[in-house]
Amino acid sequence: MTELYDLVIRNGQTVTDKETLKQDVAIKDGKIVALGENLERGIREIDASSLLILPGGIDAHCHIEQKSSSGIMTADDFYTGSVSAAFGGTTTILPFAAQHRGQSLRDVVDDYMACAVPKSVIDYGFHLIISDASDAIIGQELPAMIEDGITSFKIYMTYNDLKLDDYEILNVLAAARREQAMVMIHAENHDVIRWITEKLLDQGCGAPRYHAIAHAQIAEKEATHRAISLAELLDTPMLVVHVSSEAALNEIRRAQKRGLKIYGETCPQYLFLTIDDLDKDGMDGAMFCCSPPPRDKESQEAIWEGLIDGSFSVFSSDHSPYRHDSSGKLAAGPKPTFDKIANGVPGLEIRMPLLFSEGVQTGRMDIHRFVAVTSTNAAKTYGLYPRKGTIAIGSDADLALWDPKKQVKITADAIHDNMDYTPYEGMVSNGWPITVINRGRIVIEDEELKVDRGSGQYLKRQRPEAAKPLNRLVKEIDPKTNFNAKFI
Ligand code: URP
Ligand code: ZN
Ligand code: ZN
Repeated sequence: MTELYDLVIRNGQTVTDKETLKQDVAIKDGKIVALGENLERGIREIDASSLLILPGGIDAHCHIEQKSSSGIMTADDFYTGSVSAAFGGTTTILPFAAQHRGQSLRDVVDDYMACAVPKSVIDYGFHLIISDASDAIIGQELPAMIEDGITSFKIYMTYNDLKLDDYEILNVLAAARREQAMVMIHAENHDVIRWITEKLLDQGCGAPRYHAIAHAQIAEKEATHRAISLAELLDTPMLVVHVSSEAALNEIRRAQKRGLKIYGETCPQYLFLTIDDLDKDGMDGAMFCCSPPPRDKESQEAIWEGLIDGSFSVFSSDHSPYRHDSSGKLAAGPKPTFDKIANGVPGLEIRMPLLFSEGVQTGRMDIHRFVAVTSTNAAKTYGLYPRKGTIAIGSDADLALWDPKKQVKITADAIHDNMDYTPYEGMVSNGWPITVINRGRIVIEDEELKVDRGSGQYLKRQRPEAAKPLNRLVKEIDPKTNFNAKFI
């Protein structure tokens, strides 16, 4: 007898962003080809009784094999990073191809491709980081990269070697609007941070906890407001990344209420860490320094609320793996002041399990919303839907089979990245994805990696529907007092 399917998953419940169904899933040539009851046999069969079948996660913000603007290399390469992601239920990663000033975007992408192709075990695409907004980059190189399928990019309002001024941001937004690419923005007011940092250091306040004082909530709120204003001026959709505070969240909410295409992203560190973590003994607080920083308990609550009520559409790790040693956090010396500590925390593997545990299992977050923020919305926001981010006939067979009863204690040793710490040491996750499938390939099973290095595929992405302008400039703005869309 010849089997019709490569793989059939039986007796489980499929969960998408919209519904939960008791149905079997049949896979052939990497795609979902049938859904329903009494499906014919497959070459391989999995019994998913008591398991939940969710779309594989999409981590749309992670830094892998990336050199920071101050020259520090992440501890994870595309092998360890992708393996760690897969163990946590993620089947697609969208890390950054980061331009340092003076570099051509084509060269940057070629370099990241050369790193990823032989190593990634799951599918991947890239966002660009644009640090050089010269006419040649924005006018010629960027459109060519977008045409090639890199349909989103990140810009910064802070960090000396990355920040763009408002004039440059406008140029970039205009290009994104023309090309229908998604702009991601790191919104913190550079001069506010610089000014407070100087005052703190003058007073001898250099310990890690002062990082959170220097990166004041008001710096995030002001920059978020300004970024949204610039995007509104040019009618360009935009996503504000790694939002940490209620004040910034409220800026996003206000824009959304006014009908603007402004999206928000938040991350595990803003749900599970606080400023108190930066206040740990000695240099241990350095392990929790990221920008924006974790805030207080009230902010945590507000960020949870934003994730539950739909103000945030995407939940990403912002995995920034700098080890707690001289290769990473302490590259500037054994006791650097906070402004010299490499920014970022790891989180690729725990992103989904901790949200599942503390959100879904506690009854706080609906499971469909969990699927939306960890997978479906990222696919929609970044031009991968419906190939990724759902369970539907014709979609890639990217699935995570979750055991809601499996308890996992999170420790640095248990996590599969190349880090020497996890900020979530000792937390227990109630529920874990035990079988992880990417394009029909079983990537993780029985707590083991089952695929080869380099077996992940590069994803050339569509122009996202979410990045389509509203076309309000011509229709709703008086051309006598404001400029007209034809000027951009
Ligand atoms: O602290 C952080 N988030 N580091 C990573 C770089 C970035 O800005 O996302
Ligand atoms: Zn950032
Ligand atoms: Zn980041």
